[in-house]
Amino acid sequence: MTEYYFMNGEYVEASKAVIPVRTHAFLYGTSVFEGIRAYWNTDEKQLYAFRAPEHYDRIIRSGKIMHMQSPYTTQEYCDITKKLLAKNNYKEDTYIRPTLYKKAQRVGPGLHDNEDGLIIMTNKMGAYIDKPEGLKVCVSNWRRNSDNAIPPRAKIGGSYANTALIKADAHYSGFDDAIVLDEQGLVTEGSAMNLFLVQNGKLVTTPVSDNILVGITRNTVIEIAHDIMGLETIERPISRTELYISDEAFYCGTGAQILPVTNIDHRNIGEGTIGPVTKELQKIYYDVVQGKVPKYKKWCMPVYD
Ligand SMILES: Cc1ncc(COP(=O)(O)O)c(C=O)c1O
Repeated sequence: MTEYYFMNGEYVEASKAVIPVRTHAFLYGTSVFEGIRAYWNTDEKQLYAFRAPEHYDRIIRSGKIMHMQSPYTTQEYCDITKKLLAKNNYKEDTYIRPTLYKKAQRVGPGLHDNEDGLIIMTNKMGAYIDKPEGLKVCVSNWRRNSDNAIPPRAKIGGSYANTALIKADAHYSGFDDAIVLDEQGLVTEGSAMNLFLVQNGKLVTTPVSDNILVGITRNTVIEIAHDIMGLETIERPISRTELYISDEAFYCGTGAQILPVTNIDHRNIGEGTIGPVTKELQKIYYDVVQGKVPKYKKWCMPVYD
């Protein structure tokens, strides 16, 4: 079956969604993007895009930082996304990748006089890292780029060169992923996901001022931990050695979902197995994203009428 993407105002066949080689975003990484998941609910025979408006609000904010004028409102983005998913007739878990990009065909890095383009790609998608027993990770010897260099708060294409270096070194050193420190040596997040620790029955996570992407899953975790599990989240700076002595640790993100971390720098976290808080959160999270928890159905945008 032909798959379609949305490109600069039109639904086009995926194979025809191409950009010229002189495109500014290709030459300089001047794009901002989102990763959204849609989940297939077998019982309801419905595809639900999870927290789509929050993702589109964020792409508009990322674009603002990069002098981009979003061509659509959040509502318009959601309508286009629904139409695209339905056109592709997806009946399984799906990934949606909107990219706002600098479209000028020119050499020279300036963002001025540089028209903005928009592409939304979609594809079927399963687990991000398939390791149900938990991840063994390291603290990366690369540092996260800082707010005054390439702001992690904005999901900027070019800043994922930092992520790529982090991910590649972790892989070549035999780890599943990494935890990244900032220039001050404080814990930020994973390569492309936020990080939570469990300490004495409370969740601890990096504050939004400490060079992280302000994750939508991070917010989902804080809300469901509070409302359903009665767990408080403390947002505060985290030092490296706290990682080693926490009771539990897990990553979260749209792609990653909830990923338990069971070993950091060759030290077991807790017993070195998935802890009870992480396990329960994982279960609740999968129910929430599939639209199975009435309180949070508001986060699930149905695709089929
Ligand atoms: C660097 C980084 N941090 C965190 C996240 C998690 O963000 P979200 O939960 O909004 O997908 C992502 C994934 O998009 C990411 O790339």
